[in-house]
Amino acid sequence: MELRPVVEADLDAFDLAFQSEEGATPYQWFGFTPTVAPREALRTRGLLAGADNMLAVTVNGELAGRVEWLERRWGRRDTSLCWEIAIGLLPSWRGRGIGTLAQRELVRYLFTHTRVERVQATTDPENLAEIRCLEKIGFQQEGRVRRAQWRGGRWHDQLLFSLLREEFSLTEDKSDQTADI
Ligand SMILES: CC(C)(COP(=O)(O)OP(=O)(O)OC[C@H]1O[C@@H](n2cnc3c(N)ncnc32)[C@H](O)[C@@H]1OP(=O)(O)O)[C@@H](O)C(=O)NCCC(=O)NCCS
Repeated sequence: MELRPVVEADLDAFDLAFQSEEGATPYQWFGFTPTVAPREALRTRGLLAGADNMLAVTVNGELAGRVEWLERRWGRRDTSLCWEIAIGLLPSWRGRGIGTLAQRELVRYLFTHTRVERVQATTDPENLAEIRCLEKIGFQQEGRVRRAQWRGGRWHDQLLFSLLREEFSLTEDKSDQTADI
């Protein structure tokens, strides 16, 4: 599993895969969403070094999905910024351990290349695969944000997770991290 910068063809593949409830899964389906913004961000800054950022997830060179990190602030922008991560694997790549590896690599990337103290993630209380991924990486659940997300005709609670810099080993041996790939 590798992370690499996004290219235009990746966005075409994501549009194809995620513009339906089946492809996006109920937890990520918010109706049809415009794809102009990521294409513009790709053209102007490679979808990097901004408030919303993306890398492609590949397995043996084949596109498997994407990881994103978004600017979040708990106070002033210049002193209290953290990243919120997100992931979407293409349907055929789910359930093979890649979600855990990709998010762990993204956390490693963010703690290595940016100075944030905290990486956070939110997910639906019923999204057991994502919750398990986060727990395996070392994220701790901080709480339940009630009626946070409008989706599928009703409000949904969200679970808030975080991982602090001191809780993550940047140099850990990756050889024992297996995936069914
Ligand atoms: C959620 C997602 C990232 C998980 O990645 P994945 O590669 O499919 O998950 P993994 O194969 O790494 O499995 C992670 C763990 O969840 C467990 N799991 C998977 N599906 C599960 C389910 N329905 N119930 C309980 N546990 C489940 C796996 O057994 C594994 O745990 P284990 O290693 O202890 O056995 C991926 O499925 C995905 O992209 N889904 C669509 C988008 C999405 O939901 N993104 C996150 C929303 S914020």
